[in-house]
Amino acid sequence: MRESAYSINPMQAYLAAEAEAERLSLLDNTLVEPGTEQTRQTNRAFIRYDPYYDSLALRQFLQGPDTAIEYADIGLLKTDGTSTVAALSFDGRRYVVKRYNTRSLFHAIRRIVRRSRAENCWVSAHKLLDSGITTPRPVAMLENRLGPFKGKAYCLTEFVEGVLCNEYLPTLTDQSEIDGLVVKFASLFRTLVKYRLSHGDTKATNFLIHRGEPVVLDLDAMRIHNNTQSLAKGFEKDKRRFLRNWESQPHLHKRFQQQLDTINP
Ligand SMILES: Nc1ncnc2c1ncn2[C@@H]1O[C@H](COP(=O)(O)OP(=O)(O)OP(=O)(O)O)[C@@H](O)[C@H]1O
Ligand SMILES: [Mg+2]
Repeated sequence: MRESAYSINPMQAYLAAEAEAERLSLLDNTLVEPGTEQTRQTNRAFIRYDPYYDSLALRQFLQGPDTAIEYADIGLLKTDGTSTVAALSFDGRRYVVKRYNTRSLFHAIRRIVRRSRAENCWVSAHKLLDSGITTPRPVAMLENRLGPFKGKAYCLTEFVEGVLCNEYLPTLTDQSEIDGLVVKFASLFRTLVKYRLSHGDTKATNFLIHRGEPVVLDLDAMRIHNNTQSLAKGFEKDKRRFLRNWESQPHLHKRFQQQLDTINP
């Protein structure tokens, strides 16, 4: 007799079906208050989402984010052991979903008391938008949970059309345009410091240029600092990493350094 797919690991299939049913019920009977964040929590799942985007398609996404990633119509943007990033569309909008894979038992234990990276992205994106810094609008975050343990987690944001900053800057020939963008980046870092934030991973691929303005991506490691010493350390790290992006372009490196040197946490 041939085994069915479910009989291979019935417990896993049962848990997956349970989790899915629970996610569905989490979203039932939601009273939509525009502009108010919705939070749903049980011991199997934790969801935060913006009711502005609530729809059947969003609920379907939240029921089966892995399927949505597998069939992402725009495509896979990146995948490795730690995360998968895919672009997809529904409700006439384009979105990006980032899945944070579970790493090790050690990480799972550490995350009992710490926010998941997906939730950190959610909180950080709101913080940035409130501070006037442009980042893709957060739509929803979801964590699989088993009691106190956090499993795979997902963050869904709007897709932003743009060009990575390290691809965009070398295409500029007009010096005043280059200087203008360098000043915009410096102002972005100044605003981060003003609101006691550090990004935590300022490599070039984490900044898009959209309509001539920088857009901050990848907020997994963003932090709010509660003392000046740790803010200064966070800024120094962000600055050092950001300048490293321009090592092979000394004219850009010099201009960025001149501007960033004027920021004092
Ligand atoms: N909201 C978005 N809109 C458009 N493109 C995006 C968006 N979010 C991410 N991307 C694209 O996907 C890439 C990977 O996303 P992200 O930086 O969040 O993943 P990552 O796992 O941290 O990758 P890396 O390790 O390379 O930093 C980005 O460099 C960018 O090109
Ligand atoms: Mg990144």
